[in-house]
Amino acid sequence: TWTMKSFIERVVEEIRQKVGPEEKVICALSGGIDSTVTAVLVHRAIGERLVCIFVNNGLLRKGEVESVLNLMASLGLNLRYVDASERFLERLKGVTDPEKKRQIIGHTFIEIFEEEAKKVGDVTYLAQGTLYPDVIESVSFKGPSATIKTHHNVGALPERMKLKLIEPLRELFKDEVREIARELGLPEDIIYRQPFPGPGLAIRILGEVTKDRLEILREADAIVLEEIKKSGWYRKVWQSFAVLLPIRTVGVMGDYRTYEHVIAIRCVDSVDAMTADWTRLPYDLLARLSNRIINEVRGVNRVVYDISSKPPATIEWE
Ligand code: XMP
Repeated sequence: TWTMKSFIERVVEEIRQKVGPEEKVICALSGGIDSTVTAVLVHRAIGERLVCIFVNNGLLRKGEVESVLNLMASLGLNLRYVDASERFLERLKGVTDPEKKRQIIGHTFIEIFEEEAKKVGDVTYLAQGTLYPDVIESVSFKGPSATIKTHHNVGALPERMKLKLIEPLRELFKDEVREIARELGLPEDIIYRQPFPGPGLAIRILGEVTKDRLEILREADAIVLEEIKKSGWYRKVWQSFAVLLPIRTVGVMGDYRTYEHVIAIRCVDSVDAMTADWTRLPYDLLARLSNRIINEVRGVNRVVYDISSKPPATIEWE
């Protein structure tokens, strides 16, 4: 539309004016819509002087690294990919407290980001996909979600690195970012992507995060996403995902007794994540999810559906 076109022209021009000819901008990419749109806008303004950094923290979903890398390649962004899975998993060893997990993941991310920025050199700006609701939340007393859980895990980044900020989306709401993304010609897949937390699967594995447990959750989660997409529910719901519980339960298989993991399915409707209601998914879809997860994911013998609303439950289990 005309308004979106002129918005894009205006911010691209502003970025071009702001960043000097010798200066570089870095941007942390997650594969989500906010960071991707931010990167594309800055790239339009200054081209190769934008360096995007994509950190694989080992806590991403099945196939996610490949799909983010493909997307970035198709957008022609100047990208540094860092596989830091081992470092994150090493630091998460033995950690079960949710806030501790967030802190470790946030700190490790900042550390890696700083290392990469040093290698790039001459970096003066950090581009971030901050939206209007984030701005409000951080200038006011902080919204409940921010105080209860430390969501803005990398908020300390610009100050520590003494970087100036470029936040082209700070006047926008999510639906406007979607319109911009459409105008920029980004794939549908990005435009309608459900939110995914920074600490990734670590906060969906209750208890310790290990390679084995990550593998179980990844497989179960991939089935949830596949079936939710196939049945047309993906865009209708706010988030839909699997959670690995820290308990085992008894089951039977043939003549044998099993003692294995439990997967919880979480699917919610929401407009801003401040409140949420569990989605009334059809029973036949739930049945398919349960059958497939139990049959296809080794080590799982039970699936439950979370029927709690927020508040008092949160969307994530940690
Ligand atoms: P809760 O669980 O608080 O989640 O109802 C509200 C929304 O925030 C996401 N979430 C996070 N996002 N880092 C993030 O970047 C976090 O630590 C984090 N914890 C929750 C959650 O997925 C939901 O969309």
